Amino acid sequence: MTVSFEYPVVFTNGVFSPERTQFIAVLSRREPSRRHRAFFVVDEDLVKARPELIDSIRLYVRAHALRLELAADPLVLPGGEAIKNDPDAIARIHAHLHEARLDRQSFLVAIGGGALLDAAGFAAATAHRGMRLIRLPTTVLAQDDAGLSVKNGVNRFGKKNFIGAFAPPFAVVNDLDFLRTLSRRDTIAGMAEAIKAALIRDADFFSWLDGAVPALSAGRPEALRHMIVRSARIHLRHIAQGGDPFELGSARPLDFGHWAAHKLEPLSGYRLRHGEAVAIGMALDTLYSVRAGYLDPEPAERILTLLTRSGFQLWDETLALCGCDGRPAILDGLAEFREHLGGELTITLLKDVGEGFEAHAMDESLIGDAVERLQKIHAARHDMGAVELHEAADVRS
Ligand SMILES: NC(=O)c1ccc[n+]([C@@H]2O[C@H](COP(=O)([O-])OP(=O)(O)OC[C@H]3O[C@@H](n4cnc5c(N)ncnc54)[C@H](O)[C@@H]3O)[C@@H](O)[C@H]2O)c1
Ligand SMILES: [Zn+2]
Repeated sequence: MTVSFEYPVVFTNGVFSPERTQFIAVLSRREPSRRHRAFFVVDEDLVKARPELIDSIRLYVRAHALRLELAADPLVLPGGEAIKNDPDAIARIHAHLHEARLDRQSFLVAIGGGALLDAAGFAAATAHRGMRLIRLPTTVLAQDDAGLSVKNGVNRFGKKNFIGAFAPPFAVVNDLDFLRTLSRRDTIAGMAEAIKAALIRDADFFSWLDGAVPALSAGRPEALRHMIVRSARIHLRHIAQGGDPFELGSARPLDFGHWAAHKLEPLSGYRLRHGEAVAIGMALDTLYSVRAGYLDPEPAERILTLLTRSGFQLWDETLALCGCDGRPAILDGLAEFREHLGGELTITLLKDVGEGFEAHAMDESLIGDAVERLQKIHAARHDMGAVELHEAADVRS
């Protein structure tokens, strides 16, 4: 038996300008003559940054009243990791879906960062056993990775995405105008997933990123657009053609740097953004790849230098935390990563820029060496101030 899924990923600007038709076109593509009911869940910080957004949605729906109606007033919820850590958030969304009497063919339209999309997506996946979900990602990370995916979920027991569901969205609409109000911190954080995709799959993309760092970290729209489209393509190709969209096997080849990142986020009390933790995790696994003899020091230096030039801090005090058994707390991330995926431990490491491969064991003492090296690089950078980055990033000593 074969079961196939399809969902469009549309790039646009000014999605809720009344004359724009991309949103209404994807929403009504299966039943063009029906008047669809939709319930919007919107990220609070986005609404604070764009106070006119809710009115634009109302006006848009009114302009397309033949095909679309609001089932209830848009629900504005605090976004960021807080929504994934709030045990009541899903119940609250479900209560609204119930009160507005949405049926399985109605739409939940989620607008926000990756965290809000993950939480609202899980609520949609579990109401009526799966309602239609349209995602409008509004951060760089959500547009170049999270918003495109078939995964939804929230955090529990100090573990990322412990509760969740695989459920492909009905559609994804990437409106680059949303990025105009994004903080510099979140613009940079979103670069981590694009750098990750380049590192494991596409050396040319890595070279492009290397040249575009100043424009990207300054939030220049044309550079961000290029990066997001290329990263989105790599992620979508993996989902559509990678052979395991619902991760039934133990491998997660796109999750370079993630075993450590998923542990660093809760260890930091979610002070670290996902993208920031991924940057540290990639630096760690890059140094590990060198220590284990898989990767030459020269490409490793280029990787660490690119991450640092992009604005990432590659050292965080959580790397030095120890658990009650005296072992570095970060090491628990390996077992938790394996548990989340099931089966044999499978970690993506690097052979070269653009060339990831799967390893099934990591040596704890070499991980310790890599952590120590990151701390030394950090201390050297701190002491030397403006010294050339590549000297500070020397991975050999
Ligand atoms: N489902 C997946 O496959 C997948 C993949 C990667 C990451 N993720 C998840 O995505 C989350 C990270 O997402 P993120 O990086 O988008 O961060 P985020 O969702 O935490 O958002 C960061 C901050 O930006 C605010 N914000 C959102 N859009 C804004 C805008 N346009 N202007 C101003 N502020 C805005 C949010 O309210 C929040 O305060 C993590 O929970 C991570 O686990 C999921
Ligand atoms: Zn990620």
